[in-house]
Amino acid sequence: MNENLRAYVDRRGQKGMDISKSVELFRRYAYVEQSCIRALAGWFLKLPNWETKIILGYQLYAHAERLNELGTRLEELRGGRHRDANIEPGLARIGKELVHAPDDHSFIAGLSWMLGHLVHVYKEHLEVADASANALEIRILLRLQVDVENELHSLQELEKQQYGNSQVNTVHWTQYLEGLIEEAGGISGLGLRSGKSVSALRPEKAQFDWPSPMVFDGRIVHADLGSYQSKLDLPLRDRSIGEFKVYFNEFYAAALLATIIYDSWKLDAPRQYFMDIAHHFWDEVRHAEFGAIRLRELGVEPSVVNMVLFDNSQGLPLLHRLCYLTLGLEVYFMPRKSVRVRYYEQEGDARSQLFADVDWSDESNHVRYGKQWMDYFLKDDARTIEDVQEEIAKYMENNVNNAVGGQKVPW
Ligand SMILES: [Fe+2]
Ligand SMILES: [Fe+2]
Repeated sequence: MNENLRAYVDRRGQKGMDISKSVELFRRYAYVEQSCIRALAGWFLKLPNWETKIILGYQLYAHAERLNELGTRLEELRGGRHRDANIEPGLARIGKELVHAPDDHSFIAGLSWMLGHLVHVYKEHLEVADASANALEIRILLRLQVDVENELHSLQELEKQQYGNSQVNTVHWTQYLEGLIEEAGGISGLGLRSGKSVSALRPEKAQFDWPSPMVFDGRIVHADLGSYQSKLDLPLRDRSIGEFKVYFNEFYAAALLATIIYDSWKLDAPRQYFMDIAHHFWDEVRHAEFGAIRLRELGVEPSVVNMVLFDNSQGLPLLHRLCYLTLGLEVYFMPRKSVRVRYYEQEGDARSQLFADVDWSDESNHVRYGKQWMDYFLKDDARTIEDVQEEIAKYMENNVNNAVGGQKVPW
């Protein structure tokens, strides 16, 4: 790794990082963190193992938190705005490429490779920062460095567990990425630049395409989960199993958010928007995890998903997908939440009650996010939220009522 923040600081004789370089570096870090978010959102649908999807869901949110911290500081620093207008093409290329890994093992290896570079540059930055002049950056970078190291460790464990120690299949991809970063002078842009073109190293199969349907390994089948009403008269254990199968199926909501996150990569929106969609995504991943945890506690292995609500939404623009989920589906399902918590409480099923209670709280946030960001995106629009909902309903009528299973939009 060939960053050289020390040489830059020594050359200037200031023994710390000046404002314009701090801004440039933070922009570059933020860009890399956000590129990882986009790549993770894409591969969330493509990686077959659901446990891996959950781990990556946690990681996506960690990237979003770090992005938010960097962005918060950039907003305070003189001249720290307009990140995307200032990213050099060499670094931009790395960010764009991360998602295009030729296969799932290469994707994991490429992400680890990127995290390794992030740890390295955050450490170097900490070493050359002035304890007083750069005190705010130091506090942020200390938190970020530890967080990235933890993520890297968990990813390396995952890689070893799933693919063994062999890196034969991923070398091609990581060498190409390494070539790209040498062209860009490292994440910081301050390293030696190789000047060699690496386009010839690009693997032929390096092209990310959305999978349809969402990929799961052979343990999971796509099937019907039964209606809400059909579970209400069942005895406690059977009803819990039925309801936690539905929680496990919240992979559909996480997938919907993943496409929103992916498509928002270059969206002009406030920092909080990116934080909220990542939070929302992660909540849905955790709700699917609630399902898996509780089902296993009840002696049942998760085995079914039904992606119809996700599939229905995929021809819609980002704005409509956001509205469909938050102000359509989540509002529609909301009245069931408190009933469920009370039922488990009355029955003395404390574990089920815990998960249902947290879910209820999270879901109230999701509806709030939806309302807030729909208002924001429609501020200079001739349409109201009701108009957008009507557009969604029309889309569903024209495209979905003829779809497999004949499932209708639930409002
Ligand atoms: Fe949920
Ligand atoms: Fe939700």
